[in-house]
Amino acid sequence: MDSIIVTGNGPLSGQIPIAGAKNACLTLMPATLLSEEPLTLTNAPRLSDIKTMTTLLQSLGAEVAQMQGGQVLALSSHALDNHVADYDIVRKMRASILVLGPMLARDGHAVVSLPGGCAIGARPVDLHLRALEAMGAELDLRDGYVHARAPGGLKGGIFEFPIVSVGATENALMAATLAKGTTVLKNAAREPEIVDLAQCLRRMGAQIEGEGTSTITIQGVDRLGGATHPVVVDRIELGTYMLAPAICGGEVECLGGRRDLVGAFCDKLEEAGVSVTETEKGLKVSRKNGLVRSVDVVTEPFPGFPTDLQAQIMALMCTAEGTSVLEERIFENRFMHAPELMRMGAKIEVHGGTATVTGVDHLKGAPVMATDLRASVSLILAGLAAAGETIVNRVYHLDRGYERVEEKLGNVGAKIERISGQ
Ligand code: EPZ
Repeated sequence: MDSIIVTGNGPLSGQIPIAGAKNACLTLMPATLLSEEPLTLTNAPRLSDIKTMTTLLQSLGAEVAQMQGGQVLALSSHALDNHVADYDIVRKMRASILVLGPMLARDGHAVVSLPGGCAIGARPVDLHLRALEAMGAELDLRDGYVHARAPGGLKGGIFEFPIVSVGATENALMAATLAKGTTVLKNAAREPEIVDLAQCLRRMGAQIEGEGTSTITIQGVDRLGGATHPVVVDRIELGTYMLAPAICGGEVECLGGRRDLVGAFCDKLEEAGVSVTETEKGLKVSRKNGLVRSVDVVTEPFPGFPTDLQAQIMALMCTAEGTSVLEERIFENRFMHAPELMRMGAKIEVHGGTATVTGVDHLKGAPVMATDLRASVSLILAGLAAAGETIVNRVYHLDRGYERVEEKLGNVGAKIERISGQ
């Protein structure tokens, strides 16, 4: 297993290109199952999760070709010859559940392994299933798999999500495009990845209104065509790299960054004393000398502060002036980075869904363990500002969501290298 060694090396300076969004691409790729025509995705990120989704789609009979080094994905599924999404693949990546809605909508049957939980929580999929049942799906859970049928096809229905769910909204949205009649999704997720998916589906011929608001209305059509669609820029990678100059000083321009994708996050950065400027190429972040002020954060569905940036801003708060309270409202176990940051000298107290961080003068490098995707990158960020060497182990977590992290940070002056493990 690879490790990454980061050594505190002072202020950063330069530009970091932001890739296409992992969490958009992971829902855009299954959309190919809705049509027999080719779907081409440009600006695709080069990540291990994308490879996992590629393997899953190919196991169902779809064709997925990576071009331009993986930045362009050419997908097509003329005829699916397998309707079973196997546990072995699904357990590696929960987003695999997103083949359920499209497969069911297109062919009227699907068997998909339940994804199981992960490090940050139980991650149930009950809302995915209830939304599909509202469209007439007949579901049978047995042997760890969802056996779904829609004899005569799905029918338009009305479903109100009891809580906001990104994945369940995506599954329902894709399924509804081919349902007979009109579907109304209430309390739908408003994330930019949902908006990106709706725009792609509309390019394929879907009739959708309201994406980005809490109510999405879909008029089912008989069939969808092909499309070429650019994957929206990754707002979580963007926020992550914006924190690099905030944590260790200097000025970095994040190419492709858009403030509308990270509004609540930018507000918190500015409240903490970090400056964010919109430029022609993206977002420029600079931290003048002096300390960063502590801020309180509550994670919420979009447009609130994203849970996927909670670990990263905690790293910034570790050396901020004062005390900050971080409340994690989306997942039940998303503070696993805290004990690792404490190994570096951070002062953090975790009680249930709340972490209280008291800023210290500086962190000290130490060997630390990555536990999940976003926790691992928060340790890298902390290492940028720590005195001495930080060794982050198990960076396969990192490679799921960040392409070439050592190259992108190295190019702006960070002292960072990857050590290949056995
Ligand atoms: C998506 O996960 C993202 N993953 C997550 O990013 C992100 O943290 C999350 O949305 C919230 O923004 C992808 O898009 C691939 P949810 P998802 O359904 O769809 C509960 C990363 O680091 N829930 O919005 O699984 C659930 O347990 C990952 O890139 C149910 O109870 O998240 C959670 O508490 C981590 N029943 C809350 O809803 C369900 O059927 C929000 O989950 C579904 C979800």
